[in-house]
Amino acid sequence: MEYPEKLVQLVQIRSKGMQLEGFVAGQGPRQPKLMLLGEAPGRNEVENHIPFSGAAGKELIRAMASVGLTRENTYITSAVRSRPFKVVHRINRKTQQPETVYPNRTPTKKEILAHTPIFDYELSVIEPSLIATLGNIGLQRLLGSKRHITEAHGQLYQGPVLEMNPEQNGYQFSQKGYLVYPLYHPAAIFYNRSLTETIAEDWQQLGLLLKEREQHA
Ligand code: URA
Repeated sequence: MEYPEKLVQLVQIRSKGMQLEGFVAGQGPRQPKLMLLGEAPGRNEVENHIPFSGAAGKELIRAMASVGLTRENTYITSAVRSRPFKVVHRINRKTQQPETVYPNRTPTKKEILAHTPIFDYELSVIEPSLIATLGNIGLQRLLGSKRHITEAHGQLYQGPVLEMNPEQNGYQFSQKGYLVYPLYHPAAIFYNRSLTETIAEDWQQLGLLLKEREQHA
């Protein structure tokens, strides 16, 4: 996706001073079969500019393939477009020398709000008929911070979503309604293997939903 230069500049200004690096654009067609909303790019993504091209991406592409989705028919984006990192000073175990490393971290609420205009723009241009959020960050970006993936996963939501309220530098609900299907983030199984079956069931249900929608299109 090519964004208007002014929009990118605006988000850069809004993100000033935040520990973020790089910029990864959303990818995929307009009016896709599905829009996927993740969290933020990681190291792989800021290097090669392909959303979900790291370890979580492999899981995601596998799950997508199980329901007939590919990068060609799916629009993939995230709530934050740059890699949030932390600065860690430590002693290298092998060399015993001090070093500084910059691992990924979860984006903060302020970083998500700073990036809000970009997703609002994507939503208006891409016109998805169905959005699946990946993990808490994508879910909360659309439906608010009270939602939690452990309760919301696999339950289709129909209604307004959060968008930027420029007057208050906060959020407001959209006039337009959307269909939102919350999924666990594909990296969730790296930390909690016991979620494997639940995640597979949620994807199966998504597959049925996509089929139903295709039949009625
Ligand atoms: N997680 C995300 O949310 N997006 C990516 O592109 C990679 C990992």
